[in-house]
Amino acid sequence: MKRLEGVSIALGVGGGIAAYKAVELLRRLVDEGAHVTPVLTKNALNFVGLTTFRALGSSEPVVSLFEDSSPIPHTKLGQGVDLVVVAPATADILSKFATGACDDALSTILVSTDAKVVLAAAMHKEMWSHPAVMENIETIRRRGFTVVDPEHGRLAGGDVGFGRLAATEVILDAVVGQMATRDLAGYHVVVTVGGTREAIDPVRYIGNRSSGRQGLAIVSELLDRGAHVTAISTIDPALSSSYLEVVRVESAIEMESATRSACKDANALIMCAAVADYRVESPLVNKFKRGSGNLPEIKLVENPDILANVVADSKMYSQNFITIGFAAETENVEANGRAKIVKKGCDILVVNDVSREETRFGSADNEVIILSADGSLKYIPLAPKREVAAGVVDALVERLLSIEFEQ
Ligand SMILES: Cc1cc2nc3c(=O)[nH]c(=O)nc-3n(C[C@H](O)[C@H](O)[C@H](O)COP(=O)(O)O)c2cc1C
Repeated sequence: MKRLEGVSIALGVGGGIAAYKAVELLRRLVDEGAHVTPVLTKNALNFVGLTTFRALGSSEPVVSLFEDSSPIPHTKLGQGVDLVVVAPATADILSKFATGACDDALSTILVSTDAKVVLAAAMHKEMWSHPAVMENIETIRRRGFTVVDPEHGRLAGGDVGFGRLAATEVILDAVVGQMATRDLAGYHVVVTVGGTREAIDPVRYIGNRSSGRQGLAIVSELLDRGAHVTAISTIDPALSSSYLEVVRVESAIEMESATRSACKDANALIMCAAVADYRVESPLVNKFKRGSGNLPEIKLVENPDILANVVADSKMYSQNFITIGFAAETENVEANGRAKIVKKGCDILVVNDVSREETRFGSADNEVIILSADGSLKYIPLAPKREVAAGVVDALVERLLSIEFEQ
């Protein structure tokens, strides 16, 4: 699936040490189906060669306002693109964009466009923490443009700190996110994320291998598609959006209570968390110490089935409330999934085979079968979790649309 099919993009490249990484981004944008026109600053040409951008881009790169065959290249390009992404965005480019300065092709295009703008900042750690740079970024964000923060890591000259250009995948996701259809604007979706922890004593717990990555990918996908999201999570999602509310929980009992309460004014629940089936009946109040006498015996009791319980009382929340469950299977994946969707009574069940190396808990990729209560089935072959998330959210949107159509 090409995520940027038909999208026209200007790729701005600033004069920073990370300019060479723009080549990889260019390639990935084109692979995703975008038509990309590179726009390099004169200073960028000290770091990278025009020939590479000419060979990989979809159009002739732009460097100057005055040497292009078009009489007014900035407005032509500014009006013709859907998105401008600048990577690396130097401190200088951020400063110009914050103040509206236009002294070269890139800065002038940035001010001559009403397309979406994504700036991936990269600079030395001292520059990144300078109040002038911070204030420029604040101004840019306040105006509704996207700044992708740099990462911590090795910088030019052997220094280490915050300032390294974000990974190509992160910048690509930000671009795709800006272009995604906002087909869930106005909808509220509750997502459970991570694996629960069941206390044994104040320091020990029974856990599972869930990393929460698939759940976080779903949260990001929902946000990009305009949904209001409540994440009931056992991990810190490290995502910030005014459309996201995070409720931190630890145990299955806490997750159940938070989920049921959040679902009251929601349109859908995506139950992606790995919830422990059992908990310790009576967790110890104090830490169990070695040599404290007899070895402790842990008695387990069954945890509530959150999905089944939400399905059971979903009529109280909203007539059209949609429930999506996840099932991790290690054998007879489809057959077990079909039995489970009937047992749980949910609208959609996403089944994955966690016995395989590539799709184990914590892996970057996943391969799933999306089963619907009407018996239909969609298979998503091995793909990054964000792509699987897009498939799950597509299934949700289809179900929402079919309910609205039936009414
Ligand atoms: C070796 C070297 C590396 C540089 N790396 C960066 C950088 O990563 N980020 C940055 O903001 N400036 C960096 N600079 C400074 C910029 O090149 C300088 O501010 C320039 O005016 C930016 O031009 P532009 O924004 O028009 O491309 C670097 C300079 C040199 C000499």
